[in-house]
Amino acid sequence: MSVKRGQRVTLQIEELTTKGDGLAREGGVEIVVRGTVPGDCVEAVVGRKRRGRLEARVQEVLHVRLSRKEPFCGHFGTCGGCRWQDFSYSDQLRLKEEMVRRSLAARDIVPGEFRPVLASPSPLYYRNKMEFSFGRDAVGGDLQIGLHVRERYNLVFDLEACYLQSEASNRIVDSVRRQAVASGLSVYDLKTHEGLLRFLVVRESKVGGGGVMINLVVSQYPHEGIDELVHVVTGEVPEISTFVVTLHTGKAQVALGEGEYILKGEGHIVEECGGLKFQISPRSFFQTNTEQAENLYRLIRDLAGDTRETDVLDLYCGTGGIGLHLARESRSVVGIEQTVEAVEDARLNAQNNAIENCTFISGKIEDVLSAVWVQGKRFDLVVVDPPRPGIHKKVLSALSDLAPAEIIYVSCNAESLADDVSELLLAGYRMSVVQPVDLFPQTPHCEVVAVLER
Ligand SMILES: C[S@@+](CC[C@H](N)C(=O)[O-])C[C@H]1O[C@@H](n2cnc3c(N)ncnc32)[C@H](O)[C@@H]1O
Repeated sequence: MSVKRGQRVTLQIEELTTKGDGLAREGGVEIVVRGTVPGDCVEAVVGRKRRGRLEARVQEVLHVRLSRKEPFCGHFGTCGGCRWQDFSYSDQLRLKEEMVRRSLAARDIVPGEFRPVLASPSPLYYRNKMEFSFGRDAVGGDLQIGLHVRERYNLVFDLEACYLQSEASNRIVDSVRRQAVASGLSVYDLKTHEGLLRFLVVRESKVGGGGVMINLVVSQYPHEGIDELVHVVTGEVPEISTFVVTLHTGKAQVALGEGEYILKGEGHIVEECGGLKFQISPRSFFQTNTEQAENLYRLIRDLAGDTRETDVLDLYCGTGGIGLHLARESRSVVGIEQTVEAVEDARLNAQNNAIENCTFISGKIEDVLSAVWVQGKRFDLVVVDPPRPGIHKKVLSALSDLAPAEIIYVSCNAESLADDVSELLLAGYRMSVVQPVDLFPQTPHCEVVAVLER
């Protein structure tokens, strides 16, 4: 029986999508039901079709597998962020483990050992970076600063408070909003590409007191109104150690740009992680949950075993987090990363931590990897930590040719991990260990570390 829009159906939720929504099957089609998890049974009304799947809205809950609790945030349901805050933290971990198990099983990957999810030390206020967007209220046109409405990348809601960063971060949002309104500053419009204010990025050191950095992304600078805003906001929030204004005139909605102006402080913060100090500039990638990143890096070091005689290749190395943690107990480390500023920071991080056996190369791995080969260097251990889409096909095939004894794959997307690992299994590897690590409590995202051995 085919399912039609507007129809009321009883759905047994079977799976989780990669976004953490429940998935049911009815009449030969897949139906996504927000706010449900496998084992739930609901009456729902079928809505529109998106990306090959129907969506349905819950009308009545017939059976819940995991009990829900009162959400702690007033933006729950609107915000794309903490979607799982109505589950206890232990149930969130259980769901994450199920997602990883399912992704591997769907590709017939059977790990030697599946370890339980490593819980985050802090389930709230754990983020060292938040990226807020500017927008306008659809009715009154008032300036807003907030996060994106779920699944609506061009719609922002006005943030009252967020429980993922610090209390200072909420005061910064509030101060910037008040001053922007007082000065009558305009908001960048995604359709007309006119207007000034685009993003407000707050980055703060969580360990060791290395400062709070604001990166305000605007479409025009120099600008007197911005100078005034910086003056007022830094006066109101004394925790701000550095204020950067990024000029971004392009149409792409990203918090990067063509010019950076440091209006207060050094233009970077310093974070401590695993006994090392990391300099983080506005463009650098750094794991957003510092305390749990420390556990992640320790785990990678433990999984790597005795590396004193090992040359390590750290692919997608960012500011060098993994490589620098391995370097102290390895013969050498080569890191490759596309973002020039992150590579500069990685080199500086090595220098500041008196680590001398690391080399960092900037460029897209698929372009520069062969040059590393040409130098005739062999690597016994390769660590890969790619972005969500996974490893570039060229890099996967180069890895198979290089054939290191061990690959440690760090992934923020179990689906792409499973796809890439399938290829590596064909090249003669086996997955000896898999360990999910929760870097993102309250959300359905989960980091996974997998060890592949020949
Ligand atoms: C998940 S982060 C890894 C960060 C790092 N391992 C750490 O722990 O801090 C992924 C990194 O890959 C980089 N990246 C993405 N695509 C790349 C490519 N094709 N070549 C090189 N680096 C790339 C991004 O700039 C980002 O820094």
